[in-house]
Amino acid sequence: MALSGACRDLTILSVTEAGPEGGAHGCYYIELANPGLGSAVAGQFVMVRPACFGQDPVWPRPFSICRLTPEALTLFVQACGRGTDALCRLRPGDTATVWGPLGQGFSLEPDTPTLMLAGGVGLAPFVEYAATHPVPANLALVFGHRQPLSCYPFAEMAAVVGRAEAFQENTPEDLPRFIALLETKVAEYAGGLILACGPRPFLMTVARLARRFGARAQVSLENRMACGVGGCLGCVEKNALGQYVQTCTQGPVFWVEELQLSEEA
Ligand SMILES: Cc1cc2nc3c(=O)[nH]c(=O)nc-3n(C[C@H](O)[C@H](O)[C@H](O)COP(=O)(O)OP(=O)(O)OC[C@H]3O[C@@H](n4cnc5c(N)ncnc54)[C@H](O)[C@@H]3O)c2cc1C
Ligand code: FES
Repeated sequence: MALSGACRDLTILSVTEAGPEGGAHGCYYIELANPGLGSAVAGQFVMVRPACFGQDPVWPRPFSICRLTPEALTLFVQACGRGTDALCRLRPGDTATVWGPLGQGFSLEPDTPTLMLAGGVGLAPFVEYAATHPVPANLALVFGHRQPLSCYPFAEMAAVVGRAEAFQENTPEDLPRFIALLETKVAEYAGGLILACGPRPFLMTVARLARRFGARAQVSLENRMACGVGGCLGCVEKNALGQYVQTCTQGPVFWVEELQLSEEA
């Protein structure tokens, strides 16, 4: 892609709480002015370093492209540490250095029934996926979350895709029920295409189920990244042959059979 790795200073257009309870749960949409970024493949990401990072944090932070229009690049960010806290406190007119679009995105097969499995902020890349899919009626979404549903861009997606269901995990007892739901869905879509993004244990469950049902499945990894462009080896993951691959350039989206997906990267 011609624009891959392009580095620009972008102006913040808005930082908005995601729904009425978004602020209380640290969930925000950050809109940056698009100075001419072309199209992106859903699942690609950007590295973001606002001017306010200064000397700490040193490294930029990676975020999925939640939505890219000619006017704006939108990120969906959950504040969970120094970098994301600072990002969510940005104000319109502030600037951030942005690298991207980076990495390999999700496969798109317009006529194939496609199941999107998302956990928490892993919903972000599927907003762009659904918005750019030529036949969104072929898309189904299963979304697992802990914060209130209004803190996520779920309603917008449910209005676009063929089928959408959400599952809130409130107690430890909910986990086996969510895994049972995933099992049913993976079995149902075993002849289609399955895409997943979310925390590592969630992706490991999806990979295990995909292998069991012989499903074609891709997972998007959220490994720690420092440079985002293949220079630091900070993001490596073991492939099926036991060799290390860089998730920033060879991923973050991989076919399940390409990876070992063990507890440790
Ligand atoms: C390809 C990709 C896409 C992502 N997309 C989104 C998204 O759309 N929305 C969103 O809210 N988050 C997303 N993340 C996760 C986000 O990058 C981390 O939450 C963020 O970097 C944490 O930074 P921090 O300084 O706030 O946290 P820290 O205070 O540094 O640490 C808090 C937690 O974040 C993890 N973390 C820290 N730095 C990184 C890093 N550079 N990469 C990955 N994890 C890290 C730590 O392991 C720790 O668990 C994505 C990560 C990747 C790799
Ligand atoms: S983040 Fe530096 S090599 Fe991947």
